[in-house]
Amino acid sequence: MTSQTLREARKYEEAAEKMIKKEERPDFHLSVRTGWMNDPNGFSYYKGEYHLFYQYYPYEAKWNSMHWGHAVSKDLLHWEYLPAALAPDESYDKDGCFSGSAVVLPDGRHLLMYTGVAKEHQANGVFGDVQTQCLAVGDGVDYEKYEMNPVLDAKDIPEGSSKADFRDPKMWQDRDGAYYCVVGNRPADGSGQILLYKSENGFEWKFKNILAENKNRFGKMWECPDFFELDGTWVLLVSPQDMRPKGYEYHNGNGTLCMTGDFEKETGAFTEKTNQSIDYGIDFYAAQTVLTPDGRRVMIGWMQNWDTCNLRSPEAPWVGQMSLPRELSVKNGRLYQNPIRELNEMRCNQVVHMDVAFSGTISLDGIKGRLVDMELTLRPGDEQNLYQKFAVRFAQNEEYQTSLSFRPRESILKVDRKFSGSRRAIIHQRRSLVNSTDGNLKLRIILDRFSVEVFVNDGEHVLTAIMYTEQEADGISFYADGDVVMDVVKYDLM
Ligand code: FRU
Repeated sequence: MTSQTLREARKYEEAAEKMIKKEERPDFHLSVRTGWMNDPNGFSYYKGEYHLFYQYYPYEAKWNSMHWGHAVSKDLLHWEYLPAALAPDESYDKDGCFSGSAVVLPDGRHLLMYTGVAKEHQANGVFGDVQTQCLAVGDGVDYEKYEMNPVLDAKDIPEGSSKADFRDPKMWQDRDGAYYCVVGNRPADGSGQILLYKSENGFEWKFKNILAENKNRFGKMWECPDFFELDGTWVLLVSPQDMRPKGYEYHNGNGTLCMTGDFEKETGAFTEKTNQSIDYGIDFYAAQTVLTPDGRRVMIGWMQNWDTCNLRSPEAPWVGQMSLPRELSVKNGRLYQNPIRELNEMRCNQVVHMDVAFSGTISLDGIKGRLVDMELTLRPGDEQNLYQKFAVRFAQNEEYQTSLSFRPRESILKVDRKFSGSRRAIIHQRRSLVNSTDGNLKLRIILDRFSVEVFVNDGEHVLTAIMYTEQEADGISFYADGDVVMDVVKYDLM
């Protein structure tokens, strides 16, 4: 039975969607149907299609009482909206259906687990969140909340841990048939921890272990965990709040963190080995992965960040888009990301310029656009006298530009959208330390109307940023201080 709240949302989104023209949205990145979007949720493959749900407030382009929006795709690039899947319509989730995940049950039903939020007057006199984990079961369109909800609550967390910060369950089914889930939480030290739970049937859950502890090393609360095995190691992804910077690796505010290590299933213990940021740009958060039928681990993230989400005004008809789905791999303990290979099918109008030797500013025949897949290979033009700086500028006209610049002597790659049209005093630049020797660097740059994603050295580093520059600004130019030689291979994406 759909509730009145959900029926209203479904009716509203269907009408409001029609007010947004196709060209006013990204082309192959999923954007919110109408209103506000944050985290990806319930990323799964079900009945021959990928399902992606998302944190959703349909009525306004600002965060508010959370629903789950819903879309499906066959190739992770062309999306079709389905009716909103969840609305905050029960006593345990009246203040929001927060982030969660999905698995497919042996009987063919789709199982969602999400965080129910209900504000309550608590024993200490505070009126605040109580967060619990809840289930909904459905057929890919309609979902029924489980009558025994919530399935995990304050009695299932370690002594002294927070029941106000207990959210974002990510479930998976293990090879042994059992279900597991990881949930973000906060121990008494105010830091973050990831709790591990186990279930034989997907409905009855038991606390297993504290999988990982932040101990105030990487920000405070850890949101949106994901945990999976990849290339012979285990990978834990989390989105820490309240980070302090560390060199060029971690920046202030809401960040992203990837740890690799060993997992002992019997005890539920994870031993950390490496840590790194997931994305080194400005707009990426709350990543979630899916395992594709052909065995690829594909990650998608919210292509925005809490610290910069006022880049767009809440008067806009939509705010919120997902990143490109990225194929993950781990090499020597490092996470690599590359655009899903399905994107190659969208490439057309190839333009190639090989061995372009230049200094100063140039533009090249056929190199422009806002729906672009472009590969740049850079090398020094004069090995005795290494160039100072290289830059590629895009979404460019007389008034606007966003740029990517590289200083080989420091090995720093910077994304800068200061001149993209923004009227807000928020972060518009970010620098990343990349691997480069003697001025050699490889970049793959993907533009989709309102975003840029840069894959450096075959996915070793990724930088993501959004920009709302008017679409007429479609120029691309190159700049070198010193002598640079580059190969350019560019496609339009259609
Ligand atoms: C992360 C987050 C999650 C929460 C959701 C609420 O971006 O804060 O922890 O479930 O957003 O919309």
